[in-house]
Amino acid sequence: MSVQIRPRRLSATQLQGRKGGDKIVCLTAYTAPVARLVDEACDLILVGDSLAMTIYGFDSTLPVTLDMMIAHGAAVVRATGHALVTVDLPFGSYQESPVQAFRAAARVLAETGCTAVKLEGGEEMAETVAFLVRRGIPVMGHVGLTPQAVNALGGYRSRGHAAAERDKILRDGTAIAEAGAFSLVIEGVVESLARELTETVPIPTIGIGGSPSCDGQILVIDDMLGLFAEFTPRFVKRYRELGAEIAAAARDYADDVRAGRFPAAEHTYPGPRRA
Ligand code: KIV
Repeated sequence: MSVQIRPRRLSATQLQGRKGGDKIVCLTAYTAPVARLVDEACDLILVGDSLAMTIYGFDSTLPVTLDMMIAHGAAVVRATGHALVTVDLPFGSYQESPVQAFRAAARVLAETGCTAVKLEGGEEMAETVAFLVRRGIPVMGHVGLTPQAVNALGGYRSRGHAAAERDKILRDGTAIAEAGAFSLVIEGVVESLARELTETVPIPTIGIGGSPSCDGQILVIDDMLGLFAEFTPRFVKRYRELGAEIAAAARDYADDVRAGRFPAAEHTYPGPRRA
């Protein structure tokens, strides 16, 4: 009899210990097959509420529900064994109070098996982050361009150009780190601000439209694979053009079906030979 030893998942504590060390590699994933493919390459997989746009075709992240996040989070956890899986708390599930946030986060952890949750916001969310962390829930913060606040921010433009906004984002990141978050996403801010925040906070920063100085980087998987072509932010590097590949495959299939080339003999089940 052989016993298979599965490599243990990276923990939130281990990831927190990577401040200033080897770069932390993060990607989003929302489904089991994709999560399985990226698990080995990643330190952290985020089941982001960006799935509103990439999977469900909404034009913002606001319509996502806790049940949707839990269904996708559970699929990603089932398919992975290496990366730390973090699930986004969706809009409206945590902003009301620390207790509301705890109930949402507890459901996410219990029903998906993930390790941590992420929530957006700065100083105003610090009390909530501390509340969750004191009750055993690892929290990843998210400051700068926070998509759940798109209506208040007036769009998805990069942030931190003006001195007052820059200072506010610095205070936001510092407050979330002091509240006990194990890491901090910095999205869509001027490079020098992401660098300064990385130098200021004692936890790893994960940039997306941040700075190469951040302790790690994250990209939305559909963006980097060329699957979400509606809009490509400046900070996205397209590593493959799978969208074009899929469209070409569908065209080849359609041509074969219409020309009677598919299915061929090898794709059909031969019956018993007639005498
Ligand atoms: O929802 C998401 O995918 C995110 C990343 C952009 C960090 O929050």
